[in-house]
Parts: sequence; structure tokens; C-alpha cells
Amino acid sequence: MKKALIIYYSQTGQLKKIVDSVTSPLREDFELVFEELKPVPAYPFPWRGLQFYQAFPESVQQIPCALEPLSFNADQDFDLVILAYQVWYLSPSIPFSAFLQSPAAGKVMKGKPVVTILGVRNMWIMAQESVKKQIRGLGGTLVGNIVLVDPHPNLVSLVTIVLWMSKGVSKGKGLISKLFPPAGVPEPSIREAAKFGEVIREAFRLGQTEKLQGHLLEKGALKVNPILMSIEKRGRMMFEFWSKFALKKGGPWDPAREFRLKLFKYYLFSAGFLLPPLISSISWFTQKIFYKKTKRLQDYYSQVK
Ligand SMILES: Cc1cc2nc3c(=O)[nH]c(=O)nc-3n(C[C@H](O)[C@H](O)[C@H](O)COP(=O)(O)O)c2cc1C
Repeated sequence: MKKALIIYYSQTGQLKKIVDSVTSPLREDFELVFEELKPVPAYPFPWRGLQFYQAFPESVQQIPCALEPLSFNADQDFDLVILAYQVWYLSPSIPFSAFLQSPAAGKVMKGKPVVTILGVRNMWIMAQESVKKQIRGLGGTLVGNIVLVDPHPNLVSLVTIVLWMSKGVSKGKGLISKLFPPAGVPEPSIREAAKFGEVIREAFRLGQTEKLQGHLLEKGALKVNPILMSIEKRGRMMFEFWSKFALKKGGPWDPAREFRLKLFKYYLFSAGFLLPPLISSISWFTQKIFYKKTKRLQDYYSQVK
């Protein structure tokens, strides 16, 4: 039997469900070793008040948190490494960044095929570009990428994720439940994600991992939305500025940076709701004019290279 290592972290349990669904068909051919990342101290969930914004500067600058000691043996020889992560502030989540920067990450990934699985709201491209580079730097070969998103319109999922993160439940009550869908990746999409595991299993049976991403894309493993792509790129530039601005006042959880984080919160709310409609309209036109460039970028971000 082959051996696969699966690294994951999940606050709500959503990403763990996605991981279980994708990896279930692999059980026929692989012994699966699951490693849950456990930050010390644990990140709060639900996030109350400014806690949510306290995670912002370290997420964007990829400053690692402490993790409980990893329980798998990093000297083992794995045939496949699966990295399941979520995006925080257009960047890999802090616990996942901490893993990528740990000595164990380099040991297990060197010379090995790697598959990434993401469970996010809808903006993941910039984070994945950074993760692609880090995997390459650690000597791994990214052969597949699967991204499950909340399929509702951007402004709708923005409202529902804020409620989910601040209240801890994905489905609202009363009027909210009539107006808004549940937050997160829909359950049927999570169940159907097992089909991606079948594709991975077949690629390994045939020894054709270099063709894996092409087959995953045929099954709909991810979609690059050109409008969200533009919003994300602009957002990422602003996040660079704001994260450095907050970090000048102090490190993780430092109360001295609260004022700057409050300013960022107001920026995020106004920009989050006002700018996307504007950027979407402008992008809609520019992407019609520069359709070849848009297509080229969509293809590039769909790939694992
Ligand atoms: C602090 C924070 C920031 C987030 N930022 C983003 C983001 O930039 N893009 C996105 O698509 N999802 C974002 N999300 C949603 C997460 O990627 C994830 O889907 C959600 O938190 C589910 O949690 P779990 O994977 O830990 O169970 C964010 C969540 C948190 C807690």
C-alpha cells in the first residue's frame, strides 16, 4: 500500500469534511495519515469583536503562530502529501503558514508529489500563488489543486461569512434565514468532492501524476472567476499596506495596535461593500477588451505550475 500524509486545520469543521470526502476514495490504495494542526493558543471561534482583525497582520505577512508538536514522523517516506488549508485575508491561514515554515514541511515534501485542497469563501488565488512558490522552495512538486468555494454572489457571501464567523453558526435565524443562504461550501458540493479523490487515485494507479491537474479541471476542481481575480489583486495590495501599518504598533494580540486595527475594520467594511461593485463594472469592460489576457491569466491560475 502507498502512504499519504494529510495536513489540515479547520475551525468550523468545514475543511475537515471536505478533506474526508476527497480522501475517501484514496483508502483503497493508500494508508492515510491525518495530521491536524493545533495552534497554541487556539484561535477563537466564533471570533468576537476585534479578535477577527487581530489575525489580519500576521495572516498577510505570513508570520507563523506556535503549533503543538506534530505527531507524524517527518522522516517517513510518503508517496503523496495533501495540504488542506483555508484562506485568511487573501493569504494562507496563520496555522497553515506555520506548518509551511516548520522543519517538518521541508522533510516530508522534498521530492514528493503534493496536492492542495482549499475550502474558502471565494478569494483564494493570491494565497495559492504564495503556497505554490513555498512548495516549490521546499522541493515538493504540486500536481493537483482543488478549490471548493461558497457559490453565492460575492456580497451575499460577504454578509453570511461575517455572521458565521461572529456567531459560530453557518445558518441564520428568523428573517436572516429567509433572506440569506447558509454560509460556506454547500453540503452537496462537499459530498461530490469525492470524485476528485477518484481522479487522484487513478493518476497514481497509472503513474501519471503530471496529468492530474488537467483531469481534475475536467471534473470542475476549481474555477477562476475573472472579476473576483481583479478584486483580489487590488485587495492584496491594500492589505500589504494595512498589515505593515498595524505591525508597526506591535505583534500578535498587542493591544497597542487596536486603534489601527479599528481603522482597518472600517476600511474593510466600506471597501468590502462599496468597491467590489465598482471594480466588477470596470473589470467587466476591461476584460471584454483584453479578453486574451484575461483568458491567459485564468489558465495560469488554474494550473499547478
Ligand atoms: C480571519 C479570516 C479571514 C478570512 N479571509 C478569507 C479570504 O480572504 N478569502 C476567502 O475566500 N475566505 C476567507 N475566510 C474564510 C475561510 O477561508 C474559511 O472558508 C472559513 O473560515 C471556514 O473555516 P475552516 O476552514 O477553518 O473550517 C476567512 C476566514 C477567517 C476566519
